[in-house]
Amino acid sequence: MTLLAIIITNSNENIMQKVLVWDIPTRFFHWLLVASLLAQYATAEWFENAIQWHFYIGYFTLFLVVFRVLWGFVGTHYARFNSFVTGPRDVVNYVMTLFNKHSASSVGHNPLGGWFVIVMLVLVAVQAVSGLFMTDDIFLDGPYRQLADKETLALMNTLHHLAFDILLYVIALHIAAVIFYGVYKKQKLVPAMVHGKKESKTAGISDSRLVIALLVALLAGVIVYVAIDVFPPTPEVDEYYY
Ligand code: HEM
Ligand code: HEM
Repeated sequence: MTLLAIIITNSNENIMQKVLVWDIPTRFFHWLLVASLLAQYATAEWFENAIQWHFYIGYFTLFLVVFRVLWGFVGTHYARFNSFVTGPRDVVNYVMTLFNKHSASSVGHNPLGGWFVIVMLVLVAVQAVSGLFMTDDIFLDGPYRQLADKETLALMNTLHHLAFDILLYVIALHIAAVIFYGVYKKQKLVPAMVHGKKESKTAGISDSRLVIALLVALLAGVIVYVAIDVFPPTPEVDEYYY
């Protein structure tokens, strides 16, 4: 009986099956981030008089980043930083196999992609935080504008413009990488970011931990609320406009 159980377990390990890899919160985070960044570009560059929306969506983007950072510690296995942030040796070993069409696909992020995720999160965080110091030069000041000296404001202004330019290249590279995996390595990553499942011999996650995700979202909301509404000083009223 025990022998039979071992044989069944071992044979199951070698069978490719659809397993859940990306939990619902990670998938929601991803596509909401894509939508938010598009909206941020549109409200800054395409639409006139949309800067108030740019502020609101910027706060939401900040919320998304704070949520993802917390989720990287308490989320499901493949969403956790310690499952995809690896040392330089793993990254180099992985890069050696990058152009090998038959190399085994990673269940979660691969070692190179894992670091790419970190770069994207840092850039979006820099973009959102520097935005808090910006002004439209007419009516609206970011909540931290009056707290900072001239040098800091100049730095934040440079960062807000520079980080987005870098982000555009990084996003282009990200999409190119996803296409490369699909076309060259025949690994369809996009459907997995939609329905969460991948073909794998390794066990997936059992569920999306939605209750914990809700608590984490609440905590992220409180952190962002305190950061943008409670902590900054009340803006001084400019008499010129009254
Ligand atoms: C504004 C543009 C985008 C940004 C900022 C972005 C950012 C990210 C981030 C941060 C992750 C890591 C997800 C996580 O672990 O939380 C990720 C993964 C992923 N993204 Fe995007 N993304 C963008 C656009 C896209 C688009 C347009 C596609 C589809 C063509 C896409 C497909 C994917 C896929 C398939 C993964 C999982 C990769 C893997 O299997 O390791 N992304 N993206
Ligand atoms: C991740 C979130 C954000 C993204 C992707 C983003 C993106 C951008 C972009 C692309 C521009 C145009 C830069 C240029 O012309 O070169 C811009 C300008 C600006 N952003 Fe953001 N931003 C974000 C968050 C914020 C936040 C949170 C605030 C304020 C609370 C803010 C306030 C501003 C202001 C005041 C401008 C200048 C608009 C003008 O020229 O009148 N941004 N942002």
